[in-house]
Amino acid sequence: MIGCGYVGLVTGACLAEAGHEVVCTDIDRERIAKLNAGGVPIYEHHLEGILTSARKAGRISYTADTAEAIRAGDAIFICVGTPPKENGEADLSAIDHVARQIAEAARSPKLVIEKSTVPARTGIQLGRALAAYSRETNVRFRVASNPEFLREGTAVEDFFHPDRIVVGVEDESSAAELREIYRPILERSFHCPVHNGACPAGHKAEFLVTTINSAELIKHASNSFLALKISYANVIADLCERIGADVEEVTHAMGLDPRIGGQFLRAGLGFGGFCFPKDVQAFIHLAGAVGVDFDILKAADRVNKQCIDRFFEKVRKALWVLKGKQVAVLGLAFKANTDDIRFAPALEVVKRLLEEGAHVHASDPEAISRTKALYPQAAYHRDAYEALRSADAALVCTEWDVFRNLDWERAGKLMARRLVIDGRNLYSPQRMRELGFEYYSFGRE
Ligand code: UGA
Repeated sequence: MIGCGYVGLVTGACLAEAGHEVVCTDIDRERIAKLNAGGVPIYEHHLEGILTSARKAGRISYTADTAEAIRAGDAIFICVGTPPKENGEADLSAIDHVARQIAEAARSPKLVIEKSTVPARTGIQLGRALAAYSRETNVRFRVASNPEFLREGTAVEDFFHPDRIVVGVEDESSAAELREIYRPILERSFHCPVHNGACPAGHKAEFLVTTINSAELIKHASNSFLALKISYANVIADLCERIGADVEEVTHAMGLDPRIGGQFLRAGLGFGGFCFPKDVQAFIHLAGAVGVDFDILKAADRVNKQCIDRFFEKVRKALWVLKGKQVAVLGLAFKANTDDIRFAPALEVVKRLLEEGAHVHASDPEAISRTKALYPQAAYHRDAYEALRSADAALVCTEWDVFRNLDWERAGKLMARRLVIDGRNLYSPQRMRELGFEYYSFGRE
């Protein structure tokens, strides 16, 4: 496993839990030291438990010596970051760097698997790079693409219970090797750490063998379609507000049609995180590079950016002047059950509030320390009620259960003004009004 970021760590931990021997490496020596000391650098349900048990069983190890990790593995998963460049294109320099490391260190044939999200045709370039960089050693490499579909917050559960496992390969032996790696998952012969061995009966994962280009495209096409769905729901929400309809009623009814499906139709502050925003950009860029104008995706991206503007229109309309107002921000992570704040809509909210001179009191169960490093001028509280004390308004930015289950009667007594602007449609407008709140959300009256 090269790269101990989110995907690398979850994949490594789950494959070790499923019985494989996994060696992880990363250029971040501190991260490796932390992992070796038993620490877990990210917050993710069940991850700490399976890392601990895999370590005890001797199935997972960490080394800062990348060459050592490369030599140890028959199959090498590349799990490095592919961040966006200024123009939206994916920056693949880490993949190139890793290709050189693999080619220089390997002494025996390897199956090199792209796990990182990459634009179509990266596999071709990776194969060429491996061949070019290994001219001296003459080691043979096969390349495969194995895109990851897990979601942060439910990553371990998603890994053990996937809908599909996609492998893009050049030859049958690579497909067979990957099938063997995933056999415990496909046959459900692992001990599930999420359901403690009693997994609900569900459909079995499909193992799909495709070309490498198709596999790479499947990943971008899937994420972009989901992003499109969210933006569609957000336009419907806008319409609902103007026409006088309820977006929850509309999307619920839409979602009952199995051709549409009910997921990813939640309106609000829009999508964030390190996947959708960058993948949408990269897919638009990739399409443009081969002469396809992906207008529909550009519109989805635009709609998503406008969500924050629409949120601020509501904030301004309700609070009028922001300067000097005390504002509670509930939620910093880009979604619930993670400490990840990358491209989180909440960060943009905090930034704009601070720029306008508001006093920000933020709360989040897991993402405070990361946010504090970026915005030390705000005040942070683990306890949401402390963030709400004396607040002129509460802004809900992340759908954490602790916020969903807040006692607003109690909160109302603490706040200077009973005003809630809900970016995640967590509460019933009627109930909030009954409690004496001025309450604004997305696509509902
Ligand atoms: C996403 C995909 O769902 C995964 O399948 C994929 O593997 C992953 O990206 C990746 O490429 O690594 P993730 O970024 O963890 O997973 O989060 P999602 O649950 O997809 O949510 C993304 C964003 O959309 C969040 O900000 C969430 O709040 C927002 N969202 C989601 C909505 O605004 N409305 C919805 O109805 C659903």
